[in-house]
Amino acid sequence: MKIVFAAPSLDAQLWLPELNRALPDADIQVDGQQPDGWLADYALVWLPAAGFFSSQPQLKGIVNLGAGVDKLLAQADFPRQVPLMKLRDAGMGALILDYVRYGLLHFGRDFDRYRADQRALVWQPLELNNPLKRKVTVLGTGAIGQTVANGLVADGYTVRSWGRSSKHIEGVEVFAGQAALADCLADTDVLVNLLPCTQETQGLIQQKQLQLLNRGAVVISAGRGEIFSELALVQGLESGQLRGALLDVFEQEPLPANSPLWRMDNVLVTPHIAGPTLIDGAVEQVSDYLLKLEAGVSVPCVDVETGY
Ligand code: GLV
Repeated sequence: MKIVFAAPSLDAQLWLPELNRALPDADIQVDGQQPDGWLADYALVWLPAAGFFSSQPQLKGIVNLGAGVDKLLAQADFPRQVPLMKLRDAGMGALILDYVRYGLLHFGRDFDRYRADQRALVWQPLELNNPLKRKVTVLGTGAIGQTVANGLVADGYTVRSWGRSSKHIEGVEVFAGQAALADCLADTDVLVNLLPCTQETQGLIQQKQLQLLNRGAVVISAGRGEIFSELALVQGLESGQLRGALLDVFEQEPLPANSPLWRMDNVLVTPHIAGPTLIDGAVEQVSDYLLKLEAGVSVPCVDVETGY
């Protein structure tokens, strides 16, 4: 099988030895370095160059080396009839769970307030509200959403999840569909966004939805930034409706220098690093997909209409 690696932002020198080890019979070439006329059967992609898919007209399958496929589906020459697979957790879930835990601890153990006190040379222990009493709502019930919800339940939090369709997650109250969103958000202390960007999720959380959260709620966002109205977030953070936010994803990335979020004392900004792709986890999943496809065994594919 012939595989093209088209992920300009990833280091091919690190990926190729692992891919060759997992798929010893494959001919794997890096996009742009393949011999003239060489056409691949499968493409491993992460934000491939414009025009990439037009240059590879014989693909039998495409694997996205990340969880989100929003940018990929928006590429002008993306072949919607070719089976598309994506990483499903592949080690990312545990990293994102850590990121979410960091946010929960930062605000739950008052590090935001102690930081401000330190700057003002104030030594003042605060009364601690049991952080585990905080009600956490996780938006997203996919592979990563489930890993995070399970981890938080194990930590002792009361967890609700919201997703498009109904699912069972042990120990979690799951809400499904737009009609159930308001009930899911009500009485929430920490809102965790792990949703992909799709037609249904874009702009899901506006001022009206933020108002449903308990006053002083915290937002942790590590899915896609387009889920929130950033203006509503800023207003919520200014008004005190939100105590603070830990944000990894934004409507526009890199976050523009003129965004007020950069400068707000109650906001922590990170540059889309909550769930990086881990080479070993990814290679294991990629090789499993490709070997199954070659053997005619079905694999979970992205529905290009729903966008995940
Ligand atoms: C990262 O954002 C990913 O989609 O994997």
